[in-house]
Amino acid sequence: MLGQVRPTLSDRERLTQTSATIIARIEDLAREHGISLKTMLVGSAARGTWLAGDHDLDIFLGVPPGDDLGKALELARQVAPDHEEKYAEHAYVNARMDGFEVDLVPCYLVEDAAHLKSAVDRTPFHTKYVASRIIGREDDVLLLKQFMKGADVYGSELKMGGFSGYLAELLVLCYGSFPAVLQAASTWKPGLCLDLEGHGIGRHDEPLIVVDPVDPGRNVAAALTLDKMLQFAAAARSFLAEPKLDFFFAPPLAALSDEEIVAQINARGTMLILIELAAPDVVEDVLYPQLRKAEGSIKALLERSGFSLLRSDVSTYRDRAVMLFEMQVWQLSRACQRIGPPVWQAAHLSRFLAAHPHPLSGPYIANGKVVVEEARRYTSARDLLAGENANLSMGKHLSASIRCGHNIYMGQELLAIKDEGFRIFLAHYFQAKFRVG
Ligand code: UTP
Ligand code: MN
Repeated sequence: MLGQVRPTLSDRERLTQTSATIIARIEDLAREHGISLKTMLVGSAARGTWLAGDHDLDIFLGVPPGDDLGKALELARQVAPDHEEKYAEHAYVNARMDGFEVDLVPCYLVEDAAHLKSAVDRTPFHTKYVASRIIGREDDVLLLKQFMKGADVYGSELKMGGFSGYLAELLVLCYGSFPAVLQAASTWKPGLCLDLEGHGIGRHDEPLIVVDPVDPGRNVAAALTLDKMLQFAAAARSFLAEPKLDFFFAPPLAALSDEEIVAQINARGTMLILIELAAPDVVEDVLYPQLRKAEGSIKALLERSGFSLLRSDVSTYRDRAVMLFEMQVWQLSRACQRIGPPVWQAAHLSRFLAAHPHPLSGPYIANGKVVVEEARRYTSARDLLAGENANLSMGKHLSASIRCGHNIYMGQELLAIKDEGFRIFLAHYFQAKFRVG
């Protein structure tokens, strides 16, 4: 098992070699341009806790707090001419160099992590804190990270809402070993606080609070969602009851064929409605919150209009974004009841009657309230979505994209989408199976 997650000696040598070369090139360039700069290898590569097969190098270009990050960014561009520029809180450079995925991130060299100028300034302090303490327990971190991957809870991106590498390292430091982390996690409940340095716990309302040893005001587990926390806890409990290798390596799901999709649709007897649109050109950490917000507004619209949902989900593939709604009730009668105020509230009553001038039946009194029956504007969920989508509250990029045009697919019309990524998403949607005991 360890053999599959632990980088080989030659992997390690290649990583040391590559990072040393890149760092030397940056420092030469800085000297040439008379720029004062401190180049640091950070992240899991610097801590001996990167997984075999991962080729990710995080190199930070630190400038004094008074300087501007622009010079460091310019230098990064020159070191990696063939790069992509990405944007988190500040711009940084991402490039493939000698087979590694390298991030060159400008940051400020602040005195301590409580005096940050930008969120990335914390990272060198994380490396300094972990690197010396983790010695001898690197394998525990590797096992834990791989176990988290197998349980589909690794990654602090908003799309995942799971555990970051740094959080996995702190859990090993806190409990002592990989088995000890699983043992403890198997009884986790929301509201748990871990405070390695005894800094004291500020006010947080997240399900798991891990006080950052280098910045006590921050919760390292801030991005972890309640469900991912408990998905990990449940996987830990199942693994301890019956340890098996496939906890670490979940077999990938295959894309569904036309026949498999039809079989699912028939077996469930629900109605799938899919909204598909061009994915706005923004990073996933911006796109996913907007997709989830839109999903929430559409669910609320459907339910308040009388339809009923079983479940929903969002995804992206190639340059498309999709929102999937599985309906238990997707068709309603034309007639519906509108219930008004109690009959003795005369002023309210007249306003209600004025607002509903042409009922199919009524007004009549039921349980003391005035009731009219009138015609619904939309009797099918599809018509409702087609008619109202453009009026919903969504994030800025997504509303622009949805106004530019979107497609609605219903039931077997979904078969028109052949994309493999989409059909793997459907496989996950239908399976929706986690280890819960
Ligand atoms: P990475 O996402 O590359 O994490 O962020 P990692 O620790 O190197 O783990 P893997 O092995 O690549 O998955 C680099 C550094 O940025 C900081 C951490 O200090 C991390 O080591 N970071 C990243 C955070 O503090 N929080 C995050 O959510 C992500
Ligand atoms: Mn990394």
